[in-house]
Amino acid sequence: MLTQLVYASSAVGALSGDDLAQILRASRARNGAAAVTGALLYHEGNIMQVLEGSPEAVEAVYTRVEADPRHRGVIMLYRASAEERAFPDWSMGLVRPEDVAGERDGVHSLFDVAVPGPDRARRLLHAFRALVSR
Ligand SMILES: Cc1cc2nc3c(=O)[nH]c(=O)nc-3n(C[C@H](O)[C@H](O)[C@H](O)COP(=O)(O)O)c2cc1C
Repeated sequence: MLTQLVYASSAVGALSGDDLAQILRASRARNGAAAVTGALLYHEGNIMQVLEGSPEAVEAVYTRVEADPRHRGVIMLYRASAEERAFPDWSMGLVRPEDVAGERDGVHSLFDVAVPGPDRARRLLHAFRALVSR
């Protein structure tokens, strides 16, 4: 059984490239060991992350991440079982839309759909994946 979870949060202070690199290093090591995959989106202090894996592994990572003082206002937007992974090749991919010209509209529409509701949540996950694979 596979669970996908998406949350959004706000960085406490701006996260530098070094901060993000450190988060990714820790994430990749731990997620890899637990067969958790996903993507982390960072845009002007806004964070959104997809975690996917076994229900137990996703819960364990989410519980740890939720308590991390580097961000606050962690709100779960989506959690559901899924047939297949959206990010099978990423123990944790980083998406920084501002690094790629023309992606700003994409990320804004992503945060637009980040409103609770069953249909919106599904659209959110699809929008996230479309943005990442562009
Ligand atoms: C935005 C954000 C995303 C994170 N994502 C992950 C993640 O996917 N996997 C993970 O193991 N840790 C992630 N972390 C780091 C954890 O919160 C924690 O610092 C790390 O797992 C090390 O935990 P430990 O100090 O208990 O060993 C993330 C932290 C932040 C701020």
